[in-house]
Amino acid sequence: MSPDGGSRGSERVQALLDRMSVEEKVGQMTQLTLGAVAADSPRRGTVELDAGKLREAIVERHVGSILNTLDGPLTLSGWRNALEEIQALATAETRLGIPVLYGIDHVHGANYIAGGTIFPHNLGLAATFDEALVRRAAEVTAAETLAAGLPWDFAPVLDVGRQPLWPRYYETFGEAELVAGRLGSAAVRGLQEGPAGRVAATAKHYLGYSAPATGRDRAPALLGRRTIREHFLPPFRTAVEAGVSAVMVNSGEIDGEPVHASRYWLTDVLRGELGFRGPVVTDWADIAFLHTRHRVAPDRKAAARLAVEAGIDMAMTPDNFDFHDHLVALVAEGAVPETRLDASVRRVLTLKERLGLFDRPVPEPAREAPDVAGARAVALEASRASLVLLTNDGVLPLARDAKLAVTGPAAASRTALGGGWTYSWQGGSDADYPPDATTLVAELAGRAGAVEHVEGAGFTAEVDLDAAVAAAARADVAVVALGEDAYAEWAGDIKDLTLPAPQLRLARAVIATGTPTVLVLAQGRPRIIRGVADGAAAILHAGWPGVHGARAIAEVLFGDVNPSGRLPFTYPRHPNDLTLHDHKRTETFGPRLEPRGPGGYDPRFQLGDGLSYTTFEYEELRLGAEEVAAGDALAATVTVRNTGDRAGGHAVLLFTRRHYASVTPHVRRLRGFRKVVLEPGEAREVTFILDARSLEHVGRDGEPVLEAGAFDVMVGGVTATFRVA
Ligand code: BGC
Repeated sequence: MSPDGGSRGSERVQALLDRMSVEEKVGQMTQLTLGAVAADSPRRGTVELDAGKLREAIVERHVGSILNTLDGPLTLSGWRNALEEIQALATAETRLGIPVLYGIDHVHGANYIAGGTIFPHNLGLAATFDEALVRRAAEVTAAETLAAGLPWDFAPVLDVGRQPLWPRYYETFGEAELVAGRLGSAAVRGLQEGPAGRVAATAKHYLGYSAPATGRDRAPALLGRRTIREHFLPPFRTAVEAGVSAVMVNSGEIDGEPVHASRYWLTDVLRGELGFRGPVVTDWADIAFLHTRHRVAPDRKAAARLAVEAGIDMAMTPDNFDFHDHLVALVAEGAVPETRLDASVRRVLTLKERLGLFDRPVPEPAREAPDVAGARAVALEASRASLVLLTNDGVLPLARDAKLAVTGPAAASRTALGGGWTYSWQGGSDADYPPDATTLVAELAGRAGAVEHVEGAGFTAEVDLDAAVAAAARADVAVVALGEDAYAEWAGDIKDLTLPAPQLRLARAVIATGTPTVLVLAQGRPRIIRGVADGAAAILHAGWPGVHGARAIAEVLFGDVNPSGRLPFTYPRHPNDLTLHDHKRTETFGPRLEPRGPGGYDPRFQLGDGLSYTTFEYEELRLGAEEVAAGDALAATVTVRNTGDRAGGHAVLLFTRRHYASVTPHVRRLRGFRKVVLEPGEAREVTFILDARSLEHVGRDGEPVLEAGAFDVMVGGVTATFRVA
């Protein structure tokens, strides 16, 4: 392998490269959005291509890749017709007949296919702590994506969610890099190795995107290289090891350096250290943004040179040929060697070849009729498992004959359950939802003795508060469904993590009636609920559970389903205290520099919180040895027992803590997880293998190191200690 990770490629790829002009090579490095080649579409669900624009892109400009939908989902046949037309042109009417690589953002199911199966967002999938389930979900997505003729998915998101203000928090697998790495890799395998065939997965957004200091989308991250390597790089390493096909770059900057301009991160680390060999695609217009937004390039041509020298292979331009013109000129001037193009084009063509596009430019639809019922069953299972019961004073499960008052902006909203990227980019179009997507109030009405529904409050505005309070006063139990309506990317930027005041007022007023109140939180990030959390009889964190979320929530509230989700993130109590589960000791010191008191670690809910209708106890934690040599694996075995009277699922979480280290140790770190399902009274031994990788930290020189010394291992309330010699 050459230092930039290039390899020779197959004979077919090499033969093509040998014949390609510079213009054709740059074309393979160019990606346009569908809107740039589409006519105004007469009917929703289909797209009419503009023959002139398409010809200009594919025949004259040799464009090798197209992405995206228009403003909504296309039907399966809408997609296939568009793909057939594009590929017919690319394969029959260009000199070399190279098929187009079409990419799509199927980030929580087949969210750009009309009626496509929708899963909870990654944050909800993370709450399941269930790798097998995440893999099955991705297999469903792959099958539906291929059925539409689409071969490339811009998923999974592997950004680690360590900044809850960030409007893409829900796209992450939570705050622990271990969870992002393992569940993200399960998604990569499901997309690429499922029974329906291979969809290329994309690890995105490399690197450090998810931690903007201000919480705003695409705003600067102020992270040191050591911290990035500790918390943000590991999921990408794991995904590369899992064979992920492509990588998409972070639109933001790290410590002053836009990642699209970073040779260090894109080439030295991604190619040299991680050994990634597939194509690296930019994010939306991000080469132009090096000039217009980041201002590290005085013009677009300098921006193109910067990004290519840093290591990008494909530019999502996404609607112009500037990159094409500039890169062709740069090669003509000798500023960029043609061999540099070869390395990128080889990667792009190799991916096309691996996907079988040279033989079948539009992937064959699954031979059998799509198994819609089977896909929906997996989605429902995932929605159920994603729900986290945070508190319950005994009001849940609800009695069948309960008279309910149902209120809050999420109660009758489908878009507040699907969230962003659901049938459209922003996800806000209820009309796009399929008929089997229900609302919470409808699902509750189908189960309760009686339901009185009053909206009570909008997401940001007061509506009919008094009527909601009157309904609550008449009811046995009030269900208040609060949260956030759908948003995606910067449209979801906020300046205050607190839930909007009209919603908090509604919850407070309903609680004040004395009627036991169940809060359901449908949201993309943990909005602060100070002043209402303590008065609630129960709180269910629903996140954005997908289009079957309403049914799953109702089943949990009535006890038809036993909740098993655990929080994959820390739920803050105060807007200015976003301390995470793996904080440093100095982050917990109070005003008197004591590790307790008002300044201590005091989130509203901790990573790992989550109740069940049964109880689980940990009986013992045994270590294979009290002392291990550095590099030796250590077995940690815990016995977990279902001590209640219902069967239930439970994720066993293992944390470690170093007593001392050359870099300040974390108070605890999540180092293992395993989901088990236990019958009443049943016990199970769960063994975790702690190898060097799960014990090391990133040292001051940026290299992983396993230092000698004492560690605690913690599972629930049980702890054991060992030493690394
Ligand atoms: C997002 C990416 C997405 C791309 C293509 C960008 O705005 O940041 O996550 O893959 O658009 O739609």
